[in-house]
Amino acid sequence: MTDAERFSLVMGLMPMGFDGARDPRVPSDARPSAGYVPGVPRLGIPALRETDGSLGITNPSGFRAGDTATALPAGLALGATFNPKLARETGVILGREARAKGFNVLLGGGMNLARDPRNGRNFEYLSEDPLLSAVLASEQVIGTQAQGVISTIKHFSLNANETNRHRLDAIIDPTAHRESDLLAFQMALERSEPGAVMSAYNKVNGVHASGNDLLLNGVLKGDWGYRGWVMSDWGAVHGWRDALHGLDQESGSQLDERIWFDQPLKEAYAQGQFPKSRLSDMVRRILRSIYAVGLDQPPPQPAIDTAQHHAAALEVARQGIVLLKNEGMLPIAAGKQRIAVIGGQAHLGVLAGGGSSMVTPPGGFAATVPLGGEGNMAAVRNMSFLPSSPLAELRKLLPDASFSYNPGASPAEAAALARRSDLAIVFGVRHESEEFDSPDMSLPFGQDALIEAVAAANPNTLVVLETGNPIAMPWHSKVKAIVEAWFPGQAGGQAIAEILTGKVNPSGRLPMTFPANAAQTPRPELPGFGTPYGAPVTAHYREGAEVGYRWYAKTGAKPLYAFGHGLSYTKFAYRDFTVSGGEAPTASFTVQNVGGRSGADVPQVYLTEAAGEKRARLLGFEHVELRPGEARRITMTIDPRLLSRFDAKAGRWRLSKGTYRLAVGKNAGDLAITADLKLAPRLLGR
Ligand code: BGC
Repeated sequence: MTDAERFSLVMGLMPMGFDGARDPRVPSDARPSAGYVPGVPRLGIPALRETDGSLGITNPSGFRAGDTATALPAGLALGATFNPKLARETGVILGREARAKGFNVLLGGGMNLARDPRNGRNFEYLSEDPLLSAVLASEQVIGTQAQGVISTIKHFSLNANETNRHRLDAIIDPTAHRESDLLAFQMALERSEPGAVMSAYNKVNGVHASGNDLLLNGVLKGDWGYRGWVMSDWGAVHGWRDALHGLDQESGSQLDERIWFDQPLKEAYAQGQFPKSRLSDMVRRILRSIYAVGLDQPPPQPAIDTAQHHAAALEVARQGIVLLKNEGMLPIAAGKQRIAVIGGQAHLGVLAGGGSSMVTPPGGFAATVPLGGEGNMAAVRNMSFLPSSPLAELRKLLPDASFSYNPGASPAEAAALARRSDLAIVFGVRHESEEFDSPDMSLPFGQDALIEAVAAANPNTLVVLETGNPIAMPWHSKVKAIVEAWFPGQAGGQAIAEILTGKVNPSGRLPMTFPANAAQTPRPELPGFGTPYGAPVTAHYREGAEVGYRWYAKTGAKPLYAFGHGLSYTKFAYRDFTVSGGEAPTASFTVQNVGGRSGADVPQVYLTEAAGEKRARLLGFEHVELRPGEARRITMTIDPRLLSRFDAKAGRWRLSKGTYRLAVGKNAGDLAITADLKLAPRLLGR
């Protein structure tokens, strides 16, 4: 390769019109999308044609007229399925649709740990737990890359809040970082070898993630021996020196203050400040992934079975919806009755999350409410609904009931309707997106007052939430049932109706703890709340590795709903819990459906005590489908790192000698059956 060819591979562009004009460096055959890196035709090196994202193939700003894609449920909905098979299936769908549209790099694999219930992007991520996030993200990556499409995992690391994300300094104890977000990335990388890792916008302990020598050269490439390439997030590069600190490619470079990996990097090279060996290393990493995933010899264009992809989106929604509370109200029985459906645009569709992951669904959006005011960033605040109406689907499943819809703008008017109905279903929605966090945990637009008024008018009130985070529920004790549907994707309305009517038995489990209030979380105040756009912000992740349920185990605070919680229309019981030690410890138990209906359970195994210290860690989980009376013996192999601490001095995981208490249960707050394991001390890998 010539140096010019080498340099051409390390800088990506956004192949979209800026201020109406197309960047002349982008060839006309590059379809508008998130990213483009020219290939080297002389050597048969293909161009990198990059598309978002984790929830479906996006069409940013609608530049590709009429191009729609399967809009999958939120990452948290996938997280709530606790089902690796579905993660693999969605990865396959993403890979096939990407390729059918001419893309060969998927900017997928969003897997930051959900640390803060106000983070605008949690809906794109999978969970608050390293193991669950790693298992699901890696299954997606494997599914995508098997289609001849490179997948990223992102955003490395600690992009846990969106407020002024470009200038946010994420402060964390480095050892705790290893035991939380970094462990999640490490396990995902080992399992799936994604072709690229996307670095985050934020700083980590004072240094921007995209030029963070400790994280990129030290941990990712050094300790873990990662062989793919590190691409920056869009507009996340702060100087050509980032290349010395481990960044291999500048993405969406028009968004940076300067195109650092063009002239400035070439000048540094000419002056001997940027060594050729490093340039070669950057290029070798990119090429390695291109050939490892087979981008040079793409399989034939796949025919897209849109009906099958829709069915997969439906299945994720079905398994991802979580029944939080049910005081005998659900499932809704068939028969003659008056049902009030209130709010959330439930007559039109279901809410989708905003930002770069937003997918234009087949047929286009059912409605878009411009909430963003003025300015460049107004569009990310648009509240868009996918055309799958819960009301229409309920009508189909309950043909003898009579339905009335009220938009819910006036609590008094909605309450009047509820009063003359047999039961009321209120839809509570909260728009969330990249670029901003919610100021608090509440439902916006007076929806709390709406729910209070409806519940006061009719004791048979149930609430369906379409949110990208846990929310506060001041009306919690006043309603009979609560369902968390997340942003449930293009078949979400159908899935909600099936769960409410009992056509589908709910099996979703919370991938995030639902706090009782913000005061019991590690950060009662949102970091940087109220600072002007672009102001520096510091976020102290003082919980360290004790994210989510681990924090509640440590502090003893009782959340509203524990991580892993979710009800069913049947009942499950566990027995005969045994554990064994050795190189790869295992835990076994029997799960039985002791209720009257078929259904799926997600038994979970946790560490609760380690060598005399209280420590909560999810060690294993399984999604099991069981008929009434059916029992199954399950054995889980435990990753010994989850029983260990990272020893920063030794640079290795250290398993201490002692007794380890393990438990099997329904969720992180319900762990009655325990067993003890004695382990010998051991130094593990990096
Ligand atoms: C997001 C990335 C995304 C990129 C390209 C950024 O704003 O943080 O997740 O892949 O845009 O659209």
